[in-house]
Amino acid sequence: MKYYLAPLEGITTYVFRNAVHEYFGEGIDKYFAPFIMPYEKHILTNKEENQLCPEHNVGINLIPQIMTSVPKEVIRIESALLEYGYEEYNLNLGCPSGTVVSKGRGAGFLADPEGVDRYLDYIFEHTKAKVSVKTRLGMYDSEEFAELLEIYNKYPLEELIIHPRVREQFYNGQPDMAMYEYATCNYNGSIIYNGDVRCAKDAQSIESRFGEGADLKEGQITTSGIMIGRGIVASPGLIRNITSKEKETCEEIWDFLEKLRIDYMAIMSGEMPVLHKMKEIWCYLGGSYGENFSKELKAIKKAKTLAQYTSAARMVVFGQNIS
Ligand SMILES: Cc1cc2nc3c(=O)[nH]c(=O)nc-3n(C[C@H](O)[C@H](O)[C@H](O)COP(=O)(O)O)c2cc1C
Repeated sequence: MKYYLAPLEGITTYVFRNAVHEYFGEGIDKYFAPFIMPYEKHILTNKEENQLCPEHNVGINLIPQIMTSVPKEVIRIESALLEYGYEEYNLNLGCPSGTVVSKGRGAGFLADPEGVDRYLDYIFEHTKAKVSVKTRLGMYDSEEFAELLEIYNKYPLEELIIHPRVREQFYNGQPDMAMYEYATCNYNGSIIYNGDVRCAKDAQSIESRFGEGADLKEGQITTSGIMIGRGIVASPGLIRNITSKEKETCEEIWDFLEKLRIDYMAIMSGEMPVLHKMKEIWCYLGGSYGENFSKELKAIKKAKTLAQYTSAARMVVFGQNIS
């Protein structure tokens, strides 16, 4: 089974990816970058160049992601990605955000299967790269996926990454595992599972049901990988833990967090944006520490300076309580 870091806009920045790679990179086969979108004036903005340039992603197998419903724009952005040396990129057909969906992009594009078909047709006629798709099951109802899958089957996608929810669910409710199973029985390429993997046990249950060695039906394909997003922010060593059973130590988590803080300090102006970034990480990481630390976690949330943040965060990571 391969393991991938999911793209999380605003969170899995190059700073985050480098920190994960340095402390917990073992077992991570691919890192997916958050989406980039086309602009009239430039192919890539300075901010996007900064995130994707090879100097900021040394030793990391990075897969950029593009989100647009205009296929010519995909090929225009592809030219810049090829110049950077990327041979593969991913198309976002899953973003549920209102502003994205209202423009017919991300998961909003799934409401127009014929449009998706024309889009992929154009891209596969013109691309010089390997192209994968990250998709939801549809806009409103999982049943929409049967038609979408027929379309995906027409093209030589590098991989089809499935987050088995519909747009209407955003990240709520349960992934539709029955429809995921349908996909594994009816897709003829390489398939990756994504959604709600939070611990080694979650990964093992996907692996035993859909991975190599699983009791599959005739014609059903093996899931070749698992992509994990929020689970890694909550537990940065999760993939290493899954693949080598080696759990994160307190020291490793602390060094990881300090690397994030120091590297963000080096590129952001002033401590407030850095404090904001660290608090965002703790929105997920805090969940790994339970009730015993509610006072300390509240102190992180309320911290007005990095010094206040650091002393509260240290207590949580090293298991000490505010007296
Ligand atoms: C804050 C946030 C930002 C996200 N940004 C992206 C993105 O840029 N591109 C994308 O394909 N998915 C994005 N996603 C979706 C995740 O990649 C992933 O599909 C989703 O979180 C489910 O997987 P998980 O349960 O392992 O987190 C985002 C999700 C969250 C919560």
